[in-house]
Amino acid sequence: MDALHPTALVEALQAQSSMLPTSYDVRLLDVADIEQLIQFRLHIVNTLSHPDHYRMAGEAPNFVRDHVTDKGVTIGVFRKDKLIAYGALGVPKEGDLNRGRDLSLPNVQWPLVVHMASAMVLPSERKIRLHHWLINARLHLARALGRRHVVSTVSPWNHVSWSNLASFGIYPRRLIDTGMGASACRFLLHGELNVVETLEHATAHLVPLQDLQSAFEIFNAGRIIWARTNIGGDFYGISGHARRAGSGNLHRTISGFSA
Ligand SMILES: CC(C)(COP(=O)(O)OP(=O)(O)OC[C@H]1O[C@@H](n2cnc3c(N)ncnc32)[C@H](O)[C@@H]1OP(=O)(O)O)[C@@H](O)C(=O)NCCC(=O)NCCS
Repeated sequence: MDALHPTALVEALQAQSSMLPTSYDVRLLDVADIEQLIQFRLHIVNTLSHPDHYRMAGEAPNFVRDHVTDKGVTIGVFRKDKLIAYGALGVPKEGDLNRGRDLSLPNVQWPLVVHMASAMVLPSERKIRLHHWLINARLHLARALGRRHVVSTVSPWNHVSWSNLASFGIYPRRLIDTGMGASACRFLLHGELNVVETLEHATAHLVPLQDLQSAFEIFNAGRIIWARTNIGGDFYGISGHARRAGSGNLHRTISGFSA
């Protein structure tokens, strides 16, 4: 099936693209982009600093095609016609894998789930907040699609990825076994559009990065991971209980690009 790009999605993306430097072009990818996207992903995976940061073995076999056709949408960021970043949003239909099940969301909520499925940025374009922009743009697409539960799985080692998602209120809430052997555990992250949560500061606790893959007791105790911090060159997750849920928006205005 070809890509379905309702006008509302295209308009939502256009509104977000105005926040990027003019040297970038942005559009929703199509079947004609599949080969370029496959090659881009292979290049990024071959240059990962830690192999557990991204394992394609954990993806559905037709991941790329699915996310430019009937199981999702993929934003492509281009510089002079060269793909330099993408962000895929899974939009599960009835019968598709739905991470709402792993979260124990009531099944009436499953049709409101989207998956922050994958994002990659070319190394030479990193650390200028493109990933932030890709997260924010996909939150706007989720809203345009009428969805509200944003779910993702990320390796606990990949602190850049999960901390960027956490900065949008999409927090690690569980560890799940994705069936990939020794490094099988993934954070299950969740945020709900229009719900803003706050850390109960008195419960804050630092968890060293290397302990996060086995931090089941943190989540079993009802704590979540709120953010990453760097102390003397070592990374930690900040765990703690939520104070209360309030209303607000997860997405925001992104600015401050240095490119
Ligand atoms: C993860 C990834 C998408 C981040 O992209 P990016 O565009 O560089 O990220 P941003 O510029 O939006 O984020 C900048 C933040 O990440 C931090 N960061 C980026 N690279 C970092 C690194 N190597 N070490 C520590 N922090 C890093 C910055 O300090 C900044 O944090 P801040 O919130 O304190 O400002 C990119 O590194 C990547 O493609 N990695 C390989 C694929 C992958 O892991 N994808 C994610 C899994 S879906």
